[in-house]
Amino acid sequence: TLHTTTEVTTVISTDSPVAISREVTVLFGSQTGNSQGLAKALSIKLEQLGFQVTLSSMSDFKSNTLKKVQNLLIVASTHGEGTPPDNAIPFYEFLHSKRAPQLEDLQFSVLALGDSSYEFYCQTGKDFDKRLEELGGKRLSPRVDCDLDYDDSAAEWIENVLANLNKTLESTGVVQGTTLNGTEIVAEQSAYSRTVPFKAEVLENLNLNGRGSDRETRHLELSLEGSNFQYEPGDCVGIYPENSLALVESLIEKMGWNSEELVSVNKKGEARSLRDALLNNFEITVLTKPLLEQTAKLSSNKALEELVAPGNEVELRNYLDGRDLLDLVQDFSPWKGTVQEFVSILRKMPPRLYSIASSSKARPDEVHLTIRTVQYESHGRERYGVCSTQCAERLEPGEQLSMYIHHNPNFKLPTNSVTPIIMIGPGTGVAPFRAFLEEREESSAEGKAWLFYGDQHLLTDFLYQLDFQRWVKDGVLTRMDVAFSRDTDKKVYVQHRMLEKSRELYQWLEDGASVYICGDEKHMAHDVHNTLITILEQEGGKSTEEAVAYLNDMQQQKRYQRDVY
Ligand code: 2AM
Repeated sequence: TLHTTTEVTTVISTDSPVAISREVTVLFGSQTGNSQGLAKALSIKLEQLGFQVTLSSMSDFKSNTLKKVQNLLIVASTHGEGTPPDNAIPFYEFLHSKRAPQLEDLQFSVLALGDSSYEFYCQTGKDFDKRLEELGGKRLSPRVDCDLDYDDSAAEWIENVLANLNKTLESTGVVQGTTLNGTEIVAEQSAYSRTVPFKAEVLENLNLNGRGSDRETRHLELSLEGSNFQYEPGDCVGIYPENSLALVESLIEKMGWNSEELVSVNKKGEARSLRDALLNNFEITVLTKPLLEQTAKLSSNKALEELVAPGNEVELRNYLDGRDLLDLVQDFSPWKGTVQEFVSILRKMPPRLYSIASSSKARPDEVHLTIRTVQYESHGRERYGVCSTQCAERLEPGEQLSMYIHHNPNFKLPTNSVTPIIMIGPGTGVAPFRAFLEEREESSAEGKAWLFYGDQHLLTDFLYQLDFQRWVKDGVLTRMDVAFSRDTDKKVYVQHRMLEKSRELYQWLEDGASVYICGDEKHMAHDVHNTLITILEQEGGKSTEEAVAYLNDMQQQKRYQRDVY
């Protein structure tokens, strides 16, 4: 069975330390940069306290030096269905292999990042934690599992780790009287951040799809004036959206609550009307296992108790899938909890991340986003993506949106502007490539660039068609291959175009090109990855193992980067 959220309490380890060292190694495994940001914040604090810190991505860490590490702190996120992030995979595999050394002299602690709406919540962090113990390591402080709103839990973990390390040293007189303070995490130039979002004015909000398309994709332009935000191509914007008023009102009516009643919305006890709180502060469109376990205590309905009981994991997972809070309150009445009890167990509204579609060099004080409207039916009711529907239906120019910049160090243009780039981004996956090309145009970069783009229909779904065609004409884009999947009898996807051009594509790789994939992970990115392996086999005469090793090498050299979701 799986753990649920770890209770966070300040725990000072009482075990006597196995090793006294001022040297601390901080490793992160990060897909979008959250773990990396936390690892960096931790390292800065450690340095301030007089520790010698080695901060490294797991992919840059030399595993054969692990044996010598005495203090190891790991910050790792979990990706997709419980898999490690790309840059953690080699180290993860090494640690779980027979080659892993015994680590009796090691003290360690793990911070796990995840999303409790996924079955394998924080799995990567849990795996590291378990494996390091198996190898003989001693836990410096307990692992902490963080949900989407990780700030408070992460800060507490950092505080615990620092206190325990410090205690170890103080007991030996190595460090005297250092005081621990503050747990502020962000080192931004801007006064605004994930925890203090900026209210950006909407400058433009257009539908990029033509009439008759099955899809709607908004092109949003936001003003960053006054925010002091800096961003680079490959970075994202986090948006705090507003829930649908209709859904909030249905919920309030169903529960017989009073929408004007004041509820406290955070630890500080800030109060808002129930209506505003449900609109802005809490997530009501996703159900998680921890949420159901908590609500079971507020319901007099035996069926809910049953659903969360051990042994019913499959039923629970099926229930959670595609349902929201309104389903829950309808399905399991009568309820006995107070409004406040109810509200207190909801997850904080998580920000939605969108890849930036503009270059700040080309457009000072502006940021552009490409947001596809999410709408589908499930369990007999129409469902609407919270943020995308707000953007599509209720966001006029002149209005404001709460946002911040999320830096993604794992999706960056090559440092050398002569390096060729291959960009694969069907659908909204094309967004960061518009940013890449704007940037390269603005800086007159000489490197070759190749774009693979696809969507359903050429006539209605070619996002940013004019921009890309202009770049082809001007030579900013050396090649462009498109795959419109529903214009022909047989579906064509970007990977089919890649295969058609396999010889040239292989030559680009041999010439040192960097490959970027953005968009759907489960199907597209997976198929494109396999297609790259096929191309390396076919054109490079490599075995499958050699082809995989070639891609791993590319990844190690940061020449294979993915921004997938
Ligand atoms: P489809 O909707 O016709 O199946 C952007 O969403 C484009 O990606 C669409 O043309 C979509 O095609 C296509 N697509 C769907 N599955 C894909 C896959 N596994 N690999 C590549 N493209 C895919």
